[in-house]
Amino acid sequence: MSNVLEVIGIEKKYPGVIANRDVSLQVREGSIHAIIGENGAGKSTLMKSLYGLIRPDAGQIKVFGSEVNLKSPQDAIELGIGMVHQHFKLADNATVLENVILGSEPTRFGFVVKYDQARKKLLEITKNYGLDIDPDESLSNLGVGERQRVEIAKVLFRGAKILILDEPTAVLVPQEVDELFANLRELVKNGLTVLFISHKLDEVLSIADDITIMRQGTTVATRKPKETNKKELAELMVGGELPKPKAGELKVSSESILSIKSAAYSRADGREILHDVNLELHGGEIVGLAGVEGNGQSELIELIMGLAQPSAGSVQVLGLDAATTLTREIRNAGVAYIPQDRQRDGLLMSAPLWENRILGHQFADPMAKGVWVNKGAAIEDSKRVVDEFDVRTPGINVLASALSGGNQQKFIVGRELTGDPKLIVAAQPTRGVDVGAQAIIWDHLMQARSKGAGILLVTADLEELFSLSDRIAVIYSGTIVSILNPAKTTPEDLGLAMTGAKSA
Ligand SMILES: Nc1ncnc2c1ncn2[C@@H]1O[C@H](COP(=O)(O)OP(=O)(O)OP(=O)(O)O)[C@@H](O)[C@H]1O
Ligand SMILES: [Mg+2]
Repeated sequence: MSNVLEVIGIEKKYPGVIANRDVSLQVREGSIHAIIGENGAGKSTLMKSLYGLIRPDAGQIKVFGSEVNLKSPQDAIELGIGMVHQHFKLADNATVLENVILGSEPTRFGFVVKYDQARKKLLEITKNYGLDIDPDESLSNLGVGERQRVEIAKVLFRGAKILILDEPTAVLVPQEVDELFANLRELVKNGLTVLFISHKLDEVLSIADDITIMRQGTTVATRKPKETNKKELAELMVGGELPKPKAGELKVSSESILSIKSAAYSRADGREILHDVNLELHGGEIVGLAGVEGNGQSELIELIMGLAQPSAGSVQVLGLDAATTLTREIRNAGVAYIPQDRQRDGLLMSAPLWENRILGHQFADPMAKGVWVNKGAAIEDSKRVVDEFDVRTPGINVLASALSGGNQQKFIVGRELTGDPKLIVAAQPTRGVDVGAQAIIWDHLMQARSKGAGILLVTADLEELFSLSDRIAVIYSGTIVSILNPAKTTPEDLGLAMTGAKSA
């Protein structure tokens, strides 16, 4: 097999950081090539260079054997390179077909968009590669897995031969991951090449033909799955042994931290999203909320945080009625909130880290100083968070947008776990973080639990769910259908409960 893509000695510097140095990579035609590495190792930076989004300071990129100079994504697309980003870029108020042709219509079809022709081409693509999407469906009706297929179809529609996916599985539940992998296998069978980033070692071992490991900005090794294992990969990533999470003992208190009784929630358009939800959470325990995305977990979190009002029933948070209490008062009472969408709800991307330390905490000690914020405290505590959670950054004055995805996540978790919260609502707390950082975050959650906090853990990561939860509440179709004991539940049982099958 020849190389479709070759990288020789790429370098990319940012103020205070060498994001890529001496990067070398060879990607074989028709292969699935995984890139792994710690948060901040330089994976996304490399992909951005390959897609013409940024220009490396030095080094060469060869596509199908010829050296190229990528000035923009348009250049990359013309060479047959397509990319699906970590955060999707689709329009909600348009159909699948409209989204797919968006951006490529004028050059391909003249100024009049030829929908019939485009639809035909899209149907061919979806059929050939087994991508299960309906061209006429409105995007707003689609879940994450389907949106990702639209992104992939869009890239294929533009004629991509090399597909770059930045952490495609981070947002997917296990069943969707299987579907994605089936799609990727179909693509390479048809001669395409896939380059993808992941933090999940089991995954890359199961699907990749080649695995390249990056560490501190550079490529350190490439392995075939047969020649390696999880332990070696992890050690190549961190350059040493992994930290192990310390388990605390279970001391559930009688104190009710969260009490949800017969709660329901309907959208403005009258559609009922939640009905008859009952859940009790006590101090000192972690309750995992498991469910396929879109079964009401986001709305349930909104009820708890006072961001939405129940249409029936009650939600008591630390003795406060969440329906009539302001979100900031709920937070001030001792509730920490790690939102699932870190870029939309967790950070001000264009503000420096220290300002982000204040976000959501501006109304309480020590971040508030009368009606002003306490800049000194924010700066001081940002440094502590960076240190304790191993946030890789040149300093606390850099903008949140300059941090790698995983490091943004570590900063949010660090901020939220500050000050001994009594209730922690943690949605996908380790999404996009590397194995070392995952261990640090798990450890902090376990410590918070030992100190008596009640934790509601909403996670699509089964390993996380089973490792941390004392009880697992399964949400399906807007209500909690069962409470399981993780010690007595298999992933298969859980999968059945999550898809609405009656539990035994
Ligand atoms: N626009 C930018 N400005 C300044 N620094 C940046 C910028 N983009 C990336 N960096 C820095 O470059 C380094 C590599 O970041 P990159 O996003 O490539 O990491 P990554 O391997 O993708 O990490 P993750 O797994 O967390 O997504 C990090 O130290 C990051 O802070
Ligand atoms: Mg990244």
